Amino acid sequence: MAKDTSKQSDTGSATANPVSNAIELLKADHRAVEKLFDAFEKAGNDDLAAKGTLAQRACEALTVHAIIEEEILYPAAQKALGKDKIDVEEAFVEHFLVKTLISKFTTLKPGEQGFDATFKVMSELVRHHVEEEEDELFPEFQKSGADLLALGKQLHARKEQLQSKLEEAGSKLVGDNTIAFAGSA
Ligand SMILES: [Fe+2]
Ligand SMILES: [Fe+2]
Repeated sequence: MAKDTSKQSDTGSATANPVSNAIELLKADHRAVEKLFDAFEKAGNDDLAAKGTLAQRACEALTVHAIIEEEILYPAAQKALGKDKIDVEEAFVEHFLVKTLISKFTTLKPGEQGFDATFKVMSELVRHHVEEEEDELFPEFQKSGADLLALGKQLHARKEQLQSKLEEAGSKLVGDNTIAFAGSA
């Protein structure tokens, strides 16, 4: 659970800048979900409304993030780096586990047994996954000479598309399967 604060500083402008490069965009996503995790941890035990909203927002953000990585980033990284240098299969498996936990929230409601525990395990899994991406995958990919700005535009466009789909669906991923997982949206 140790937090590398140096990761915080280099993404400050990414959310405001729609054409940030791929790595900046994804790191900004990471910081955003970490904020939601922190807020959930700080929410009072009885503040079920806050917990429900935070869980919903985290699930939505993670779903969109996972889709754009799986559709765009991972294939590009695999192509640029080759299988011997970086293996994205572990990342795919971790995404699968996160998505499995996200799907639990379609029936699990705040205050019910297992809600907090499921959120905690999900957030721990995501924090670990994010650390691996930022410590291994992203630096290697950055060195590969891939066009990170073009890729950032692609990620941004797909993200906007998925977000408007969520908005159309009333942005209620929890209890709503309008947006499918694993890049099938
Ligand atoms: Fe990921
Ligand atoms: Fe990521």
